[in-house]
Amino acid sequence: MAHKDLHDEPFEESTIAKLEIFEDYAQAWIPTFVIQGVPTICIFDFFSGTGYDKNSIAGSPIRILEKIKEQIGHIFQKKVKVKVYLNEFEPNKKEQKKFELLQKACSEYLEINKDVKRAIEIKYFNEDFEELFPKLIEEIKRFPSLVYLDQNGIKFLSDKYLMELEKTNQTDFLYFVSASYFWRFGNSKEFKEHLDIDMAAAKQDPYKFIHRNIIEQLRKKLPSKTKLKLYPFSLKKGANIHGIIFGASHPRAVDKFLKIAWGRNPINGDANFDIDDDSNKRQLDMFSDKKLTKIEEFKESLRKKVLAREIINNFDALNFVYEEGHIGKPASECLKEMKKKGEIDYDSMSPLVTYENVYKKHKKIDYK
Ligand SMILES: C[S@@+](CC[C@H](N)C(=O)[O-])C[C@H]1O[C@@H](n2cnc3c(N)ncnc32)[C@H](O)[C@@H]1O
Repeated sequence: MAHKDLHDEPFEESTIAKLEIFEDYAQAWIPTFVIQGVPTICIFDFFSGTGYDKNSIAGSPIRILEKIKEQIGHIFQKKVKVKVYLNEFEPNKKEQKKFELLQKACSEYLEINKDVKRAIEIKYFNEDFEELFPKLIEEIKRFPSLVYLDQNGIKFLSDKYLMELEKTNQTDFLYFVSASYFWRFGNSKEFKEHLDIDMAAAKQDPYKFIHRNIIEQLRKKLPSKTKLKLYPFSLKKGANIHGIIFGASHPRAVDKFLKIAWGRNPINGDANFDIDDDSNKRQLDMFSDKKLTKIEEFKESLRKKVLAREIINNFDALNFVYEEGHIGKPASECLKEMKKKGEIDYDSMSPLVTYENVYKKHKKIDYK
């Protein structure tokens, strides 16, 4: 399947949105470990590109270095070793020009930013992901790792790699997937060899949900006791839908990603467009059937679960929040409303549905 080369043109809006999510996550991820003084952390960018686009807009590797620079004081103070692994490879090309550009861009950045140069150990690779991943997986597993898989297409989302990442317990990863390819080619033999998705099931929903649907199916493939959580962020690019798949097993990572995603789109938290047509739902007048927005629907199902005593405290509530890909705010609003109406009571000013209260302070309150 032919791919258009991302680096032949200036980055498009949806590419920049993707890169911003990548960098926002690095910005949240790096200090988590640095402030704890974890001895070594690793960042892997397996599909690094050239460093910059045609208009000198930074790509993922430069953005990673910039996020490290933001934490440089803490990194030195806590003596954290930051290992950065950058790979770029053009299959079927003798001359590896993009790899050369990548090395040049990063070396120049590090010459200007000598503090970053001193703080990190950087390794460049010019290998096919297929060969490199098995070589680096032990390193990924050994240290807290952030892994970017900004592939063209979908090929490297196959079980071979995803299931290896599933086995890690301190790795957070961000995949890029050209979800629209599934719609067009998902049933072909070539595709199924990489990733077997039930296209008949996926096509029951409109095309715009393709990225969400892929993730639902990937979740079903994971082992039953897995701790790995997967979340989508769909990116509309012209008529096509692409997207990010975020994966992590620690609730802290999930919390951070969901806050970034909802920060980017406070309407649905999982797309760079109004995927559920929520603005229309809000505008429906009193004579139309009122359809619930994504947030209203979530609040309603939380309310039902609390009334049915399936959710009896803030720990349950926060787990439900994460399961549903939401953040604590609408859950708190719903529970406060329920308290006001006399449907429940709890012994606190707020219902404490936050990561800090549940996982850091271990503060539990019952909803009676
Ligand atoms: C979507 S681009 C990555 C863009 C990059 N993250 C950036 O911000 O500029 C995918 C990159 O992967 C490279 N690539 C393609 N096939 C590859 C393979 N099998 N192994 C490693 N890299 C590959 C391409 O040359 C391309 O630069």
